[in-house]
Amino acid sequence: METIVYRQLFPSFGALSAAELIGSLPLVHDDPTVERPYTVVNFVASADGRTAIDGRSRGLSDPGDRELHRTLRERADAVLAGTGTIAADDYARMLPAAERRQRRLAAGRSAEPLAVIITRSGRLPLDVRLFAEPEARVLVFSPQQPAPSAASAAAESTAQLQHELLDPDTPRPLTAALSTLKQRHQVSTLLCEGGPTLFSALLREGLVDMLFLTIAPTLAGGPGPAVASGPPLEPPTQLQLAGVLEREGSLFLRYALTR
Ligand SMILES: NC(=O)c1ccc[n+]([C@@H]2O[C@H](COP(=O)([O-])OP(=O)(O)OC[C@H]3O[C@@H](n4cnc5c(N)ncnc54)[C@H](OP(=O)(O)O)[C@@H]3O)[C@@H](O)[C@H]2O)c1
Repeated sequence: METIVYRQLFPSFGALSAAELIGSLPLVHDDPTVERPYTVVNFVASADGRTAIDGRSRGLSDPGDRELHRTLRERADAVLAGTGTIAADDYARMLPAAERRQRRLAAGRSAEPLAVIITRSGRLPLDVRLFAEPEARVLVFSPQQPAPSAASAAAESTAQLQHELLDPDTPRPLTAALSTLKQRHQVSTLLCEGGPTLFSALLREGLVDMLFLTIAPTLAGGPGPAVASGPPLEPPTQLQLAGVLEREGSLFLRYALTR
């Protein structure tokens, strides 16, 4: 398959592939004693800041965006999303391309990253394709073990399901969840794919290290969600531009988060 090449515009000019870019980034904490994974967030938005068209992100994504997204998934130890995103974007297995799974296996890693879902309600969208995938490893954070009806539906899922408690009574529940990912599931690099509700909550707890944001050359209009939703971030989160790529009119921005 032909390699997708991007024009790099910042911090220097040149041409590079997604593998070259992602391979050049550490994406782990310098300090191994940090109690949570290095957390990368990835979004695609229209030029007017919407992250969904007709309720889904698919209409905004192009081959350049998908290549960068899949390369980030190949690199990550785990992929985190809220139930809204899992359901709206009909999640399937993490790495459909066999060559990506083989590269990970050859490097002594699991074939695919752990899929991590976070929910307060415990209502999992069990009809999405991810749960019918026998090789998928899925970890659910929720405040309680699934209710009996949900548990029996989950038991029929062919994916390998695990559960961790999300304590809603602690002031920083996501900090605790990410610490669990690092300590109990050996997750050093976490890719969060949103959605906007979960991204805001991660920002509020200061848990994001890097944002990959694709700006599609599209105006969506309408009420689609922004990249971060919910109440205003106080103070607003400051971003430091770390890289800009371009391909066929899409811009691929990379920001470091300052704390
Ligand atoms: N363009 C893009 O890159 C992109 C990326 C992702 C999503 N999207 C779009 O965004 C839309 C979905 O938005 P969304 O905000 O609903 O997505 P979301 O954040 O994935 O899902 C929200 C749900 O996730 C759970 N959740 C989120 N934060 C939580 C927290 N701190 N603690 C516990 N549970 C938490 C809750 O589930 P329960 O209700 O089960 O408790 C919540 O209702 C879709 O249209 C999707 O296509 C676009």
